[in-house]
Amino acid sequence: MKGIVLNRQLDSKIEFVTVPDPELKSGEALVRIKSASLNHRDEWCRQGLYPNLSDGVVLGSDGAGVVEKVSDESHASWIGKEVIINPAMFWGADQRAQSKEFQILGMPRNGTLAEFIAIPLDRLLEKPSHLSWEEAAALPLAGVTAYRALIFQGQAKAGDQVLVTGIGGGVAQFAAQYAKAIGATLSVSSSRSSKLEKAMIAGAEFGFNYLEPDWTEKALNATDGFDVIIDGAAGDSINQLIHVCKPGGRIVLYGATMGLPNKLEARKVYWNQLKIMGSTMGSDQDFQNMIALVEEKKIRPVVDQIFTFENAVKAFDLMKAGDQFGKIVLKP
Ligand SMILES: NC(=O)c1ccc[n+]([C@@H]2O[C@H](COP(=O)([O-])OP(=O)(O)OC[C@H]3O[C@@H](n4cnc5c(N)ncnc54)[C@H](OP(=O)(O)O)[C@@H]3O)[C@@H](O)[C@H]2O)c1
Repeated sequence: MKGIVLNRQLDSKIEFVTVPDPELKSGEALVRIKSASLNHRDEWCRQGLYPNLSDGVVLGSDGAGVVEKVSDESHASWIGKEVIINPAMFWGADQRAQSKEFQILGMPRNGTLAEFIAIPLDRLLEKPSHLSWEEAAALPLAGVTAYRALIFQGQAKAGDQVLVTGIGGGVAQFAAQYAKAIGATLSVSSSRSSKLEKAMIAGAEFGFNYLEPDWTEKALNATDGFDVIIDGAAGDSINQLIHVCKPGGRIVLYGATMGLPNKLEARKVYWNQLKIMGSTMGSDQDFQNMIALVEEKKIRPVVDQIFTFENAVKAFDLMKAGDQFGKIVLKP
């Protein structure tokens, strides 16, 4: 079969090559990938910024497809089913945090950017019927990360003022859609006015350009501050988030695209009784709850562009440039 693997000897760091067909272990299914999607993690792997990288591994955490084969006759009812893949492996039983064995599909284990994947049956869920293959493939990793950050950790509820930063991002798109779906008042931030305009058309109440030095004052004037803030950038801008968070509010960090903060406005954190929380992907329970919300509210992932596997380098370059609005999808 053909797949997209890491090869750090090349300038492009990835290549679309023939790789061995997957072999099924007990309890696994062979899924023919119909669509896959990128996460920033895939680009971090390409840039060598992820731990334990290994050349030759098929990248990709997100995928949707059709079950072609199962390892054991007792699971034959799965054959022919349209499925999405939960890329969070070995979370464990504790809802508060993942186990030490936790892994994300697509490094070190072969991922979804290939014609086929061998995957434990317990990672498969039936594809929500209102989603196209491209939309279904866009959902898993970013969808569950946003769900856990907003609902499990952030405890967002109807009537809350919610700020989702960097609305162009994959996770941010889902957090914004879920915030609307539960009846929160949504504000977003972005570096691009075109992305803010799109987000407002999609239902955001307020939009702020985080590159403008006075965006925090504009946000406070418009909203009186936020009950819940969902952020994947961190860096020193975390202090701006502390500034616009309401007393008693919650800031949930799921990423650090801007790196680590050089300072932290600790006095504002304790005086305003703020909770700053971390969130990573989600448990199997979070994943099921996320799918239930997506099905109930008929949420459709925002797909920015669709590439063929042959054009993977262009797709990765788009993510690196940050030009996308929503998810970048790849198809065999
Ligand atoms: N913990 C987890 O489980 C988990 C899961 C998924 C992702 N992540 C991490 O979360 C981050 C985003 O992931 P993604 O897949 O959603 O990436 P993505 O689709 O590439 O989105 C990146 C977005 O970050 C925004 N951004 C950049 N600088 C910013 C700043 N100073 N303030 C606010 N936003 C800023 C940009 O938004 P605009 O274009 O609108 O300016 C950009 O579009 C990455 O660091 C990733 O590694 C963590």
